[in-house]
Amino acid sequence: MFAYVHIPFCSRKCRYCKFASIPAGKGEDIEKYLDHLKQEIIWFSSGKSFNSIYFWWWTPSILSIKQIDSIINAFKNQWKISADAELTLEMNPEDISIDYINGLKEIWINRLSVWIQSLNERTLSEIWRCDIQTVLKWLDILNLWIIENVGLDFIIGLPYEKKWDKMKDISNILYKYGFVRHISVYMLEEWIYPKNWWIISLNKDEYIDEYKDISEILEKNDFARYEISNFSKTWFECQHNRSYWNHSDYRWFWLSAASFVDGKRFANSSDFNDYYGWILEYEEKLNETGLAIEKIMFDLRTIWVRKELLNAKVEEFISDWLLEEETGLVRPTLDWIGILDYMLSELI
Ligand SMILES: C[S@@+](CC[C@H](N)C(=O)[O-])C[C@H]1O[C@@H](n2cnc3c(N)ncnc32)[C@H](O)[C@@H]1O
Ligand code: SF4
Repeated sequence: MFAYVHIPFCSRKCRYCKFASIPAGKGEDIEKYLDHLKQEIIWFSSGKSFNSIYFWWWTPSILSIKQIDSIINAFKNQWKISADAELTLEMNPEDISIDYINGLKEIWINRLSVWIQSLNERTLSEIWRCDIQTVLKWLDILNLWIIENVGLDFIIGLPYEKKWDKMKDISNILYKYGFVRHISVYMLEEWIYPKNWWIISLNKDEYIDEYKDISEILEKNDFARYEISNFSKTWFECQHNRSYWNHSDYRWFWLSAASFVDGKRFANSSDFNDYYGWILEYEEKLNETGLAIEKIMFDLRTIWVRKELLNAKVEEFISDWLLEEETGLVRPTLDWIGILDYMLSELI
């Protein structure tokens, strides 16, 4: 069983953000939320053992070591956490210090996932993130290897970045810092961005080219692609990503969290008052067909899918080189991975 713990507060708003993040505001809001979260963890006790706990979205690193420890303790008290469990915390570079990382290590956090997004000074300022000196200082702290399993996140297509910039930045990071075990590369999703971003950013074709070149650089550096946006060194795939795409049971804890347990999908309310009142947004038991369709969708994002599970359109996509085929299995080609969602809608 895999757990996700969502911390919905941020100290400020990034300009590319597509999430309804909540300003950290007054401390008591966070304390009230954490109290309910811990009750939820305890209340949903199932006696199952946890292989992974993932603190993510939107800024888990605004929490103190004591606050994070109290959440881990809620799990420990009610559910077992396996001895080899992966406990990941997503982080903003500006929250990093040697003391904080040492503190995280002491309370059992053994993996960090850090949002770099860009190493371009002008871009960082345009998207309202911390400056380049903070990012570089933080990379040096991580290079002390206090926590050895670290992943970095990047976004392709941010304003002011030219073609090959991101590829060069990622190459330089891999050359200079040995601690990196995992890289996630996302393409900027369409959202209500400032209008001029469309003029000062890469166009869609350039996104795909950049993605392909980054994939090649990563593969040359022994990072295998195990999902469209995720690359890792052997044995360092993120357990929580894997669980989601493998259709394992997972339980999310937070406002509007969707879970999948024993073939049942359910979600907490997205309204704070209803969440605090334990009201679910929906609950459904997936039938065999529903489960099979979901499995195909996840498989196509990650690994090869058996061709016979897809409809007749598959032949057309293979001859147009949208999909590649090997011994009865198909997967999207790198050239067309950017339209995977369209392919999925046509193939099932
Ligand atoms: C769960 S989100 C974490 C969001 C995080 N609070 C942040 O600062 O980006 C994981 C990753 O999604 C990516 N992401 C966030 N917003 C995005 C957007 N608008 N388009 C594409 N990727 C995005 C970022 O690389 C981020 O690190
Ligand atoms: S830290 Fe993440 S969730 Fe928070 S505002 Fe920035 S992008 Fe949005």
